[in-house]
Amino acid sequence: MSADLLAIERRFPALRGRPPRVPFTNLPTRVHPLQRLGRELGIAQLWVKRDDESAAFYGGNKPRKLEFLLGEARAEGKRSVLTFGGIGTHHGLATTLCARTVGLRTILLLLKQPLTEHVRRCLLLDYAAGAELHYASTVAGLTVRGLRVCGRELLRGQLPHIIPTGGSSPLGTLGYVNAAFELQEQVAAAELPEPEWIFVPVGSGGTVAGLVAGAKLAGLRARIAGVLVTDLFPPTAERLAGLANKSLGVLRRYAPEMETVRIVADDFRVVSGYVGAGYGTPTAPARRARDLMAELEGITLETTYTAKCLAAMIDAAAAPEYRQARVLFWNTFSSVDPAVHLGPLPDYHALPRPFHQFFTAPVEPV
Ligand SMILES: Cc1ncc(COP(=O)(O)O)c(C=O)c1O
Repeated sequence: MSADLLAIERRFPALRGRPPRVPFTNLPTRVHPLQRLGRELGIAQLWVKRDDESAAFYGGNKPRKLEFLLGEARAEGKRSVLTFGGIGTHHGLATTLCARTVGLRTILLLLKQPLTEHVRRCLLLDYAAGAELHYASTVAGLTVRGLRVCGRELLRGQLPHIIPTGGSSPLGTLGYVNAAFELQEQVAAAELPEPEWIFVPVGSGGTVAGLVAGAKLAGLRARIAGVLVTDLFPPTAERLAGLANKSLGVLRRYAPEMETVRIVADDFRVVSGYVGAGYGTPTAPARRARDLMAELEGITLETTYTAKCLAAMIDAAAAPEYRQARVLFWNTFSSVDPAVHLGPLPDYHALPRPFHQFFTAPVEPV
């Protein structure tokens, strides 16, 4: 395999270099069996896709999307990007880390979410990586702040490039269309048996939408279980299908020879019942799932996305049809600690004042 080409570029040569992309991922991410966890859960063949190692300075699911999103920002000659999320947003952190590698400044507009030590650390990392941080306690307040920031930037000569929450635009979603082709290549190379089930968390939805679209286009038969981890505008199967189709539309613009594939709501298996009290609030099953993964496989999950997804997979494994099934857990949480490249983290007093409250209020138990 040619390491600097994406799997979709190998499959559709017309896509080489188009849409524009900033290459900072380390692909393909590896796959390997989770033997001890599989034995514990009674799953005959349990595998993991290590997207936690997707890039050298910060892994997880975001760098795949950001390669395209920042490629577009650069192609438009932008000097800054602006995006949104909760105060512990991995997407905001990943954007800041990836953008700085190509000389773009990041502005983050952040809303409250349940406070954990992990959330606090994300804020310190955002700041250390150079993000300009803004906070509001309501969506309306954040919108006003966003408009003010945009006005200021316009007066300075240019609007920032705006990236939607989670990087889940049709363009960002391409990162996961590609990921499905990458998996198909790994199956074809017998690096793993073709999975019958894939488990992945669903936040803003670009990851699952891209996987479903890519899997259908690549001819993978796996059913993709998207475990809903948010109660804030949770994406429906219809909305996910719309996003998947728009993302395929972007590809088709550059590669008209691509076969026409239509994604429908029924292509999605959206699994609900794992959010608990709300987005970002740890649940007991998620804590148990996280601890089991750490103890048996030495892989670190967090309780907002990946551990809730694993908790759903654990429950599903109790059904007899999973005993003989080939199941793939897609690990979307970075195992690369960005602090290694950033040096010592600042004291929280260095952050803008509205964020100080998050370092004095009590945190949720881990
Ligand atoms: C670790 C992790 N997994 C999964 C997701 C959800 O991905 P998506 O927003 O594409 O649904 C996120 C989003 O922030 C994340 O940080």
